[in-house]
Amino acid sequence: MSTPIPNRTQVAIIGAGPSGLLLGQLLHKAGIEAVILERQTGDYVLSRIRAGVLEQVCIDLMDEAGVGQRMHQEGLVHGGFEMLYGGTRHRIDMNKLTGGKNVMVYGQTELTRDLMDARQAAGLPTVYEAKDVAIHDFGSAKPRVTYWKDGVEHTLECDFIAGCDGFHGVCRASVPRTAIREFEKVYPFGWLGLLSDTPPVSEELIYVNSPRGFALCSQRSKTRSRYYLQVPLTDRIEEWTDEAFWQELRLRLDDEGREKLVTGPSLEKSIAPLRSFVTEPLRFGRLFLAGDAGHIVPPTGAKGLNLAATDVKYLSSAIVEFYQERSDAGIDGYSARCLRRIWKAERFSWWFTQLMHRFPDDGPISAKFQEAELDYLLNSEAGSRSIAENYVGLPLDFGE
Ligand code: APR
Ligand code: PHB
Repeated sequence: MSTPIPNRTQVAIIGAGPSGLLLGQLLHKAGIEAVILERQTGDYVLSRIRAGVLEQVCIDLMDEAGVGQRMHQEGLVHGGFEMLYGGTRHRIDMNKLTGGKNVMVYGQTELTRDLMDARQAAGLPTVYEAKDVAIHDFGSAKPRVTYWKDGVEHTLECDFIAGCDGFHGVCRASVPRTAIREFEKVYPFGWLGLLSDTPPVSEELIYVNSPRGFALCSQRSKTRSRYYLQVPLTDRIEEWTDEAFWQELRLRLDDEGREKLVTGPSLEKSIAPLRSFVTEPLRFGRLFLAGDAGHIVPPTGAKGLNLAATDVKYLSSAIVEFYQERSDAGIDGYSARCLRRIWKAERFSWWFTQLMHRFPDDGPISAKFQEAELDYLLNSEAGSRSIAENYVGLPLDFGE
């Protein structure tokens, strides 16, 4: 039986990606009501293949939301990763360099599924295929959201609107242009990703800086691999056969990688552009932006999902404080608190991207700079520690 949809709630959440679903779950745990409005079907949301490296703070949040069980069973704990350049691999021992911290390899799709299942099991209201969602009066204490479902227009009254509707959503677009500032950098290449049911080439992830461009060997499980190649933005996905992909990956790997690489048919193949993007501020009266609605990172540092999770943590704490302690402090501080963390992850993701990719217009000197920087970083404990500390994720209260 489907859950009845009320016409009034405390928090209207726009978007049922990881941000919206995790926020819904954290609010539910605190006894706060929310309705989620999602433009797509649940199956469509689950069909999007995204990154899969969780920082400890993200793991903790899944536990706090009561949805960490399958993640702990099936997720793979990684204490390090490899960087390959000049034909040689160097291991970043994250665990040792950060005093015992690790990351967890667990696909965003799986995390989203766990959150969806928990929401459904708790009978919490979600409207899938909500069309023409529009947000109103968020500058007042009585915001509203209107949407169409099955040919009927509905109004949802609420205290707050959480814009968890991703980069192309309606929430950020509804803010007057004079009230918002956007910072953006678009990179001159994309990532061609391939998912296959083949064992990963190595136990840990390998980030590759090769003269032919960046490559990444990632994984979803012991039997499922995810690989990426840096490609020109002009490349079209139809032009990349599986065989061409594997051949190019081989050319970017080292001898050991070429030997151990197991190839197979692709389950999914797509090209994604790379972008750094931040919106300031993230709060507009009773409207809050969280996750990809407010910022995008290039995927090199695996920070997108983790940043979304920490925005949501700050937002749920602020909303809980509002209802339970009748205090506006958390809400007033939301934007600055998030942005402080976001900019650090943006900085790391940009820096790691420019360290590992070939930039078409930069000429041979930039490869020499990269080589010198990699040689320094990977042979200096301070340098390696800085990479490790950022990769495992800064603590939630860093610098506070
Ligand atoms: N009305 C309702 N829903 C909408 C609208 C709209 N107008 N516009 C977008 N949405 C929905 C999308 O269909 C999507 O399901 O909002 C959801 C946003 O989900 P994501 O794009 O996954 O964003 P977020 O939940 O913030 O997750 C961030 O996703 O892109 C990755 O790297 C990123 O891992 C990070 C994570
Ligand atoms: C992925 O597994 O999809 C992945 C892993 C690490 C990254 C980016 C993507 O940095």
